[in-house]
Amino acid sequence: MCDKAMESNRAVIVGIIRSNHPMTRDVFLMTVTVPHGFESAMPGQFVMVRVRGREFPFLPRPFSIHSLYREGEASTMEILYQVVGDGTRLLSSLGSGDELTILGPLGKGFDTRYDRRTVALIAGGIGIAPLHFLAQYYNKKNVHGEEKPRLVCFMGARTADGLIGRERMEQLCDAVMVSTDDGREGYCGMVTDCFVDNSKTMDTADLILYCCGPYEMMKRVALMAGDYSVPCQVSMEARMACGIGACLGCSVKMKSDGRPVRYGRVCKDGPVFDSKMIDW
Ligand SMILES: Cc1cc2nc3c(=O)[nH]c(=O)nc-3n(C[C@H](O)[C@H](O)[C@H](O)COP(=O)(O)OP(=O)(O)OC[C@H]3O[C@@H](n4cnc5c(N)ncnc54)[C@H](O)[C@@H]3O)c2cc1C
Ligand code: FES
Repeated sequence: MCDKAMESNRAVIVGIIRSNHPMTRDVFLMTVTVPHGFESAMPGQFVMVRVRGREFPFLPRPFSIHSLYREGEASTMEILYQVVGDGTRLLSSLGSGDELTILGPLGKGFDTRYDRRTVALIAGGIGIAPLHFLAQYYNKKNVHGEEKPRLVCFMGARTADGLIGRERMEQLCDAVMVSTDDGREGYCGMVTDCFVDNSKTMDTADLILYCCGPYEMMKRVALMAGDYSVPCQVSMEARMACGIGACLGCSVKMKSDGRPVRYGRVCKDGPVFDSKMIDW
């Protein structure tokens, strides 16, 4: 989608919280009713969220769209979030009927125009948040009669309770491989090693990777994608202030290939980038 088309969809809206449940000690799933029209958002796009009527925190916080669907005259959006600081702690204290000020949908989502028969989704921890929406999108494509590629999801976490949303991904994907650092569930070790082991049975000429998780994990996936010559899209994270490309606070260094140093704005040029574009 071109920048102009996406910007025309962008709006400040009021979202009404329907539910806000803990999935683990520090990860919550929030369901929000948003006005009709919002469901044109694409997987990988995000929203900037503030609690309506609160002065603090001053800056809105960015969250990926975890799922989005039409329900009657309105739409329902889910946000899956981890409590890491004041803003997310405040969100976790909210309940049904509380209101959010939401700016979105923002940024460039995953490019799904690749014609590949196998789609691998590689998630580290809370990185599953945007990949769940992408898996839903591919399933909808199938509903609309287009051929659905084989979806294989790799989910990694420190321990088994960090494998958030595994059951949902099992419903959406053809296969789900899990890994834990302590080996109590699934592959023992890092999700990237789990992927390498399983990739031996995959036709890399017909594969695309979509990845979200900690920086080091995405860097490893990007390097592997380069080695296998497989297209790879990564959803980058950065601290954000404006969310619309104005403050340059979210810049990441891009590969310059001998040209002057270039930076990309995670909020506007991303958050999803072709992994080859990032100067890791
Ligand atoms: C495009 C985008 C999509 C995101 N989607 C999700 C999502 O779906 N679910 C989710 O749980 N989180 C997501 N995040 C991260 C989320 O925005 C931050 O965790 C949140 O803003 C923290 O706010 P806070 O006030 O609780 O923490 P703060 O008090 O602001 O910070 C607490 C700690 O978290 C670190 N931190 C804060 N923001 C970020 C960030 N953006 N990247 C890396 N570290 C950060 C800080 O360095 C600090 O150590 C996303 C970030 C971006 C840029
Ligand atoms: S957050 Fe302001 S430019 Fe990206």
